This record gives sequence, C-alpha cells and structure tokens, in this order.
Amino acid sequence: MNILGISCYYHDAAACLIRDGEVVAAVQEERFTRRKNTSEFPINAINCCIQEGGITFAGIDYVGFYEKPFLKFSRVIIEHLRAYPFSLRNFLQAVPYWLQDRLVLPLILEKEIGFKGKCFFIKHHLSHAAGSFLVSPFDEAAILTGDAVGEWATMTYGRGQGRDIQIRREIRYPHSLGLLYTAVTTYLGFAAHEGEGTVMALAGCGKPRYLDRFKEIVKVSADGSYRIDERFFGFNHGDRMYSRRFLRMFGSDRMPETPIDERHCDIAASLQKFVEETLLTITRHLHDETKLDKLCLGGGLFLNCVANSKILEQGLFKEVFIQPAAGDSGGALGAAACVFRAGLCR
Ligand SMILES: [Fe+2]
Repeated sequence: MNILGISCYYHDAAACLIRDGEVVAAVQEERFTRRKNTSEFPINAINCCIQEGGITFAGIDYVGFYEKPFLKFSRVIIEHLRAYPFSLRNFLQAVPYWLQDRLVLPLILEKEIGFKGKCFFIKHHLSHAAGSFLVSPFDEAAILTGDAVGEWATMTYGRGQGRDIQIRREIRYPHSLGLLYTAVTTYLGFAAHEGEGTVMALAGCGKPRYLDRFKEIVKVSADGSYRIDERFFGFNHGDRMYSRRFLRMFGSDRMPETPIDERHCDIAASLQKFVEETLLTITRHLHDETKLDKLCLGGGLFLNCVANSKILEQGLFKEVFIQPAAGDSGGALGAAACVFRAGLCR
C-alpha cells in the first residue's frame, strides 16, 4: 500500500511516500528547484519519492493532503470580510490562485501525475500532530502543535496513544503566536516565513526591555490560552501585518537592509522571551492535564530551537520529540501517516 503525502500552495511544498506504514522517502520541493520555501505543486519531490520507492505514478494507491482547502477558504473569506475594505486588494489577488489550484486539487493530481484515486484531506494541525507523534519513538505522549494558522487553528493540544491521536483543544485565528512572530519579523525588516530564524538569533544580542508591551497586547491565561489585541495588527491587510497603533507602541519599523540598532535587538529579545514564557505556560498546563512525561511537538512554531530548548530544560517532560521538518513540509509526512494510521485506506 503506497500512500503519497503532499503539502503545497502556501509555503514549504513537499512530498512523502509511505509504504505499509514505513516512510520510504520525504523531501522538500525547494531542494530541486532551488527556490527557497517554494509553494509550487511538488512534482520534483513526488518524482523523487516514487523513484526511491521503485514505483511509477500508477503505483500510488492513495494521496493525503496536509489541509482541508474548503475549510481554509471559508476562513479566508470570513477574515477578508472582517478586514474589508483594507483586505480587498489582497483578496482579489488571492482568489484566482484558490480557484486554479488548491480548491481543485483532484484535477491537479490527475493532470500532473495521472492520479484518479482517492485523495484524503487531513486537517492541517492533525497533519502536524501526526507528523510528529506517529513517527516518534513514543507509544503514548502529549502533543502540542503551533504555527501561523491552518484552516482555523493556530495551536492545538492533544495526546497520542498507539495509533490514536486526540486533539482536545485548539486556539483559533487570529490569536496566533506564529503570526505574532511573523508580524514582528516583518516589522524588524525581514521577510515573512523566512526571517523568523534571523529574529530568533537577533534576540540573543538584545535585552527583553519591551516584554511588558508584548504582555499588554497578548493576554495569556493560566491555562496557556491567549488572545491577541487585534488593534495592533492587520494580518490580512496585504501591505503590512502591524498597525499604526503597533508603531506608536514600539517606534518606527526597520526597512530591509538598513542598519540594525540596539532597539531592534531588544524588541527581538522581548518577542522571543514572550513566546518562550507563553510556551512554558502552555506546556505546564498540558503536563498537568495529561500527566504524561513525553511530549511531541510539530508545526512551524517549533522551528524555534531556542524556545524548544527551554521546554526541555523546564523538565516537566522527560523526553521531547520534535519533528525535524516541523514546518509545513513535515505536513506531507503527517498527512500520509494520518491516512495510514486512521485506516482511511482500508
Ligand atoms: Fe502549519
């Protein structure tokens, strides 16, 4: 039984082949096209996977896709309506892409690889959860996923046992630590979905002098849930992800390729510290709830290796498994694993 997992059309396009529950190959499209974080349909990655598996396109039994496009599109429409008229230009630019690729994926699969079989659409954060827990060495573990946003979820808490994954709770858009991190990344003059690692490194050069300001705009509860004051952001406005109110609070934004000063380093350090403290609150709550000593992490938020180390140092979870491709490329693996695990293909 050959199951092809695919992630694409947002960023980090990738493919994965699972045969009878074993990972045969998993690879990101950017390795072939040399276009970093490319979102394109991962035809080269798929070709690589089937070659590694010694099969042809005809040998693919099922496809697992790393999100539910119609559910995600419904969120996109609602968020654009909420942000109207600021979001109009963004929305009109985005719609053609939805209509020509992600909403018609079965047609794309038939056109690109001649696949006419069953394609399963797996919820985005379930793909992240499965991509971590099901390939971890644990039989039972708490699971935490976090990223910018999937369909609606931006973070999920759950547990896994054997082949079973239960998502117990989710935090929804626009309340997102991932989007917060990306918004501040762009404020500091770095590219979204690319410069976050630079900001994490920059944090090491500064002091968290602005920590209280982040605590003012993102309220974190004792159970780790959090709410972002949307007045400081405009995640869907197209031109920039932060508002004038944010600029009044933190000062002018840094233009790309201009000098980095102490204030920029301190804002990065404050953001990093805030995210670390919030994740420690969340994992403390998750540990209290599950009473488990193993933890699986997935989703782009956990590409933040500094925050991950703090979770490990916290010591509540004796063992922590982090999906190496924690971002959306790992979603291809998670989607395929989920199709196999759930017995969807039987
Ligand atoms: Fe994701």
